[in-house]
Amino acid sequence: MSKLTLSTAWQALSAHYTAIEPLHMRQLFADDPSRFDKFSVKSGDLLFDYSKNRITEKTRKLLVALAEQADVPGFIERQFSGDKINNTEQRAVLHTALRNRSDRPVFVDGIDVMPDVRRVLGLMRKFSEAVRSGSHVGHTGRAITDIVNIGIGGSDLGPLMVCEALKSYAAPALRAHFVSNVDATQLTETLKKLDAETTLFIVSSKTFTTQETLTNARSARAWLVERLGSDVAVAKHFAAVSTNLKATAAFGINPDNVFEFWDWVGGRYSLWSAIGLPIALFVGMDKFEELLAGAYAMDEHFRTAPLDQNIPVLMGMLGIWYGNFFGASSNAVLPYDQYLHRFPAYLQQLDMESNGKGVDRDGSSVDYDTGMAVWGEAGTNGQHAFYQLIHQGTRMIPADFLAPVHSQNPTGEHHAILLANCFAQTEALMIGKTSDEARAELVAQGLPSEKLEALLPHKVFPGNKPTNTLLFDRLDPHTLGMLIALYEQKVFVQGIVWNINSFDQWGVELGKQLASRILPELLDDAVKLPHDQSTRSLIDYYRQQR
Ligand code: F6P
Repeated sequence: MSKLTLSTAWQALSAHYTAIEPLHMRQLFADDPSRFDKFSVKSGDLLFDYSKNRITEKTRKLLVALAEQADVPGFIERQFSGDKINNTEQRAVLHTALRNRSDRPVFVDGIDVMPDVRRVLGLMRKFSEAVRSGSHVGHTGRAITDIVNIGIGGSDLGPLMVCEALKSYAAPALRAHFVSNVDATQLTETLKKLDAETTLFIVSSKTFTTQETLTNARSARAWLVERLGSDVAVAKHFAAVSTNLKATAAFGINPDNVFEFWDWVGGRYSLWSAIGLPIALFVGMDKFEELLAGAYAMDEHFRTAPLDQNIPVLMGMLGIWYGNFFGASSNAVLPYDQYLHRFPAYLQQLDMESNGKGVDRDGSSVDYDTGMAVWGEAGTNGQHAFYQLIHQGTRMIPADFLAPVHSQNPTGEHHAILLANCFAQTEALMIGKTSDEARAELVAQGLPSEKLEALLPHKVFPGNKPTNTLLFDRLDPHTLGMLIALYEQKVFVQGIVWNINSFDQWGVELGKQLASRILPELLDDAVKLPHDQSTRSLIDYYRQQR
């Protein structure tokens, strides 16, 4: 057994699990009229209700003890102070410096990174204001009306999710598009709607070596040059965001339109850097800085709140409680705000690329489960699709519900109906419906006894399904910044407890290597196929059928 599973705090939780597992939350609420007060936290305009979880005060104490045993507080300081906690890549993890709104210096290798961070923010402001005001014009002198971000993974999902979430704050004169997939359909369908004279491409890639992004960027460049009739046009219509300035220069992007970031920013943590340029262009730099300020507020909460009142710590430890002790393997994220419809997709990369690890920081295999699968959909749509499984399926699926008190589009009773559904779902998941209650309903409907008995088991809801609820005033840039940072730090807490490196992603490499080996085999039938039987046959079939 590993040091973690043998540890006092882990063993104490294992023993405690056997006491908690048979308890129903109905009873826990009935026994304690102040349960909500005990198990909710407010930070800024964010209310975190975690009372509908299978926990008691003792559980929280034991979970906090596990966080302390793993030295979460020490690692928080190490993260913020620029220690190279990404040990397999020997890098600091400092997306928090990008949103540091204080005058605190942040050192990497003895050098304060804050002047550089502020310099690039200044460049982003200048460029985004020039484009938005129409003073940056295209090759033919026309103002930019459409921006197309070309990137993938962290260089796509974060800016895309934020632009969707803050759509209502955007300038109507500027539209934002995102192309990520190497499937040419996405680029083609996007370009169909655009006029080259008024389109600005932003090629976003930390490494500037990613096959999908460079392939899309080359095709976009060819489209532009063909329409505008000159290579010179590229200077006014292409910008780049990268840590690899040599590669952006080699691609031919005007150095005035290149925005830098640094190797201490992980791809999936990069929306706070110049990777956020599409956000700044779309909603304006002031709003982008409000987003940073919201994340900073959450960082300050995370650094300073005691562990038992610390929202990212509590959320992270609850995930460990269900994943490692109850055996849950997925986590649903259910935003009751249409503007957050891409939030679950964004969280998938954040969480699963960070914590999908099978060896610990020292390279030893772990004997406990790590990251869960994350999935979800905007409410109420999910209710009519997959909630059935959460309510009556055999697996435990802890779920997060997120909702604004105020709609940005107040229309009749829509928002009250939306929130009624949100609250009803967490209530139903917690309280369930007993056999007696179901029977009483069927009796009241006058069902004959034989039919009643046959139907009864299907009408029972076990309940006792754990949920968190995050309520906020309205989805503005500040609140969105808080929410994103909250989930980032939750993922961080879990990685520390599991003793894994949440900041590398070696698991994506093998597929990339094999794809580059297969590509020439698809392009040239003469190339031999040194593969397993299935892969060889699939390639053969493609060669014959294409
Ligand atoms: O697929 C792995 C990955 O490295 C992600 O971590 C990253 O966000 C994405 O590819 C894109 O990388 P880049 O920004 O270097 O193009």
